[in-house]
Amino acid sequence: MSGIKLISTGSALPVREVTNFDMEKLVETSDEWISTRTGISARRFCSGEECHTSLCLAAARQALERSGLRPEQIGVCLVATLTQDTMTPSTACVLQKELGLPEDTVCFDLNAACAGFVYGLHTAECLLAAAERKYGLVIGCEVLSRITDFTDRSTCVLFGDGAGAAILEWGEDYPSLCAVMGSRGNRQVLMIPGVNTGSPNFIHMDGKEVFRFAVDVLPKCAKEVAAKAGISLDQVDRFVFHQANQRILDYAIKKLKIDPARCVGNIARTGNTSAASVPLLLDELVTSGALRSGQRALCAGFGGGLTWAGALLQLA
Ligand code: ACO
Repeated sequence: MSGIKLISTGSALPVREVTNFDMEKLVETSDEWISTRTGISARRFCSGEECHTSLCLAAARQALERSGLRPEQIGVCLVATLTQDTMTPSTACVLQKELGLPEDTVCFDLNAACAGFVYGLHTAECLLAAAERKYGLVIGCEVLSRITDFTDRSTCVLFGDGAGAAILEWGEDYPSLCAVMGSRGNRQVLMIPGVNTGSPNFIHMDGKEVFRFAVDVLPKCAKEVAAKAGISLDQVDRFVFHQANQRILDYAIKKLKIDPARCVGNIARTGNTSAASVPLLLDELVTSGALRSGQRALCAGFGGGLTWAGALLQLA
């Protein structure tokens, strides 16, 4: 079997913290409504010089430094996002220059919304199998505050900004991610207009439908990954699920009958950071020692598209 292992992680959050009490000053809402419906207490928003590129760079540099690798050893650089600073150059191309990655590094951004980072893991696994240099950099980054309608209380309280990065190594005797991925085209449930549509590119969401979709697809996806890997869910050390809503996570924990202690999240402090949420949490788990060498994390994301993806990632 061939596959990838996680070598190191990095992350970057904007300095400015916006609490639910701050949100109360913007729209008719309350800390009580937000925290009981979503589990969110605060989120971070970019301010001043902070931007998508600066978050990606900070997270990538931290992951690279922790890996002990040189930029010349990276063969693939992917950025999962839907809020990049420029449509072209892609953020991955900007990183190629800023980090000093070789010019023949495969660099591109990919959009699979909140499932993007896990899509990126599997894409990197496939590309690295054919690459000369066996190390990959995968980043999930969003600046959702740029596409949030701060007059719409049903969405603006949910989202946050941030970036998480992972350095991966491909090996012939490394475990496969056993990735499971899916998509279901749907414009009604979750939509962000693109360029030239004449509409501001704000997030439009039918929260109830997203909720229904998530509680259906997340437990199925986790079970399918474990089945593909030939293990039981008890053998998974950590569950790193997209942090969209604590109630969705609680439902999945119950449905999967897993120990909540192995599915601890960070939504209370970050809000929903879309493609950044899985790598941000992964970084927290690795740096706190909650995910240790040789242990396996079942990562899963779901979101706009609609998309979903799951993968079993082992820490080297
Ligand atoms: N503060 C106070 N009241 C509010 C707020 C708010 N921020 N937002 C909505 N309400 C009101 C509504 O107007 C409604 O009032 P009404 O009964 O008088 O009409 C009431 O609260 C209930 O609204 P619902 O939409 O029914 O609330 P629900 O319990 O479904 O919770 C929520 C809404 C939190 C959005 C939930 O549906 C949810 O979490 N869905 C999943 C969303 C999600 O995960 N999105 C992430 C994917 S998108 C991405 O990542 C890019």
